[in-house]
Amino acid sequence: MDLIRQEILNCTKCELCKGRIHAVPGEGAINARIMFVGEAPGQNEDQQGIPFCGASGKLLDLMLESISLKREDVFITNIVKCRPKGNRDPEKIEIDTCSKYLKRQILLVNPKVICTLGRFSMNLFFPDFSISKVHGQIFKLSKFKIIPLYHPAVGLYKDSMKETLFSDFKILKQFTTIKPKEFS
Ligand code: URA
Repeated sequence: MDLIRQEILNCTKCELCKGRIHAVPGEGAINARIMFVGEAPGQNEDQQGIPFCGASGKLLDLMLESISLKREDVFITNIVKCRPKGNRDPEKIEIDTCSKYLKRQILLVNPKVICTLGRFSMNLFFPDFSISKVHGQIFKLSKFKIIPLYHPAVGLYKDSMKETLFSDFKILKQFTTIKPKEFS
């Protein structure tokens, strides 16, 4: 994971490297049972180099707490590791290039379940899915289980979506029994 991290921090494979303060490789337990995959770093993440460290990250922390987990029990990352300027949507070429790092991270962590946060991340695994139809359900993809979840940002402005997020999170309790040993 340290090698992947270094590669990401030094990556110049796409244009996003030009506008970044920090690349954001991801963090958490390298043997986590649950992995979260968001879209791309926002302004706070770009400034600090830490995934989900802004307002949506605070909500993610609360959702983790609701199932008795802490950040260091899971692995949190994004499809795209550098901030798209102005928080625009990542482009296909950026997703195609950067998701190679994500694939290596997934194979290394080897989680029981991958929770996609938002549409972009879900569409990486299931291009035809619609988040409003499949959120909170478990799907099998090779040896992994994938649970599409709404992006926490949607819960910041709408209480009903916050309730949906917390309710969908309960399905993760079945994967929380064994605590990972390492944090890196
Ligand atoms: N939104 C994301 O998708 N990822 C982050 O790290 C922060 C906000």
